Amino acid sequence: MKKTFEPIVFKDLDEWEEDLLRRYPDPDSIAEGKSTEAFRNYDSPERDSVREFYRLNHTYQTYDFVLNKRATFLAFDKKEMPIWEAYDFLNQLVDDSDPDTDLDQLQHLLQTAEAIRKDGHPDWMVLVGLLHDMGKVLCLFGEPQWAVVGDTFPVGCAHSDKIVYPEFFKQNPDSENPAYNTKYGVYSQNCGLRNVQMSWGHDEYVYHMVKDYVPESGLYMLRYHSFYAQHRENAYDHLLDDHDREMFKWVKLFNPYDLYSKNPNPPDWKALRPYYEDLVAKYLPPTLKF
Ligand SMILES: [Fe+2]
Ligand SMILES: [Fe+2]
Repeated sequence: MKKTFEPIVFKDLDEWEEDLLRRYPDPDSIAEGKSTEAFRNYDSPERDSVREFYRLNHTYQTYDFVLNKRATFLAFDKKEMPIWEAYDFLNQLVDDSDPDTDLDQLQHLLQTAEAIRKDGHPDWMVLVGLLHDMGKVLCLFGEPQWAVVGDTFPVGCAHSDKIVYPEFFKQNPDSENPAYNTKYGVYSQNCGLRNVQMSWGHDEYVYHMVKDYVPESGLYMLRYHSFYAQHRENAYDHLLDDHDREMFKWVKLFNPYDLYSKNPNPPDWKALRPYYEDLVAKYLPPTLKF
């Protein structure tokens, strides 16, 4: 399975996340005297591959594309495995790349979960930290990275100019389609996000994977954690209903743990394991379907 991928793919996966830190720098590290200029280097080579990533994402994430991917992947007929096996599977995403570039996927999930736990949040939110990027296994099913990661946005209505690199939406056929290119498109005012199709990626996929097991506020965190145009920019207030607005408080609470918990010290998995095994057993069935 992993032989179908070039290591460069996984390098880009990290670059997307580093780009988020350039766009939304850690307010605490700025308070400690770090200049925001360090994050705003738009001319770096990394920046070019992030641009290319969003060019592909914005060009090909159409309404029909999303419906297609939902039909393929929400059938959950690809694989069934215990969550711990799924983490080994997910960690293939960095096994092939330069060993000293970054922490593996499980380590990012553990650092997110541990930061949430240290702040005394409920245990289901710690679980959300552990699960939130599980959907990146899509890469291992042969999906291109622009259909797995990156900021998500509603499809079936006009693209907000608050979405990163909005100029690339000109190449998306939906922008020419009068059914999809108006403010509300196929939706109606404040119809609620449960009625809105989002661009396809790891958020929507993991949400469906665990939607019967995690409290609703946690499900919002999973489903919308990459919807920066809303949780950071409020660009789609016109589609949210009152319930979404209530629930987005949780999405906003979660985001800094995802973005700012990364640090070079790998978590002590041996010491943490018993806690996380109990937590997973408390909420999730013995195996998950992929
Ligand atoms: Fe994510
Ligand atoms: Fe993450």
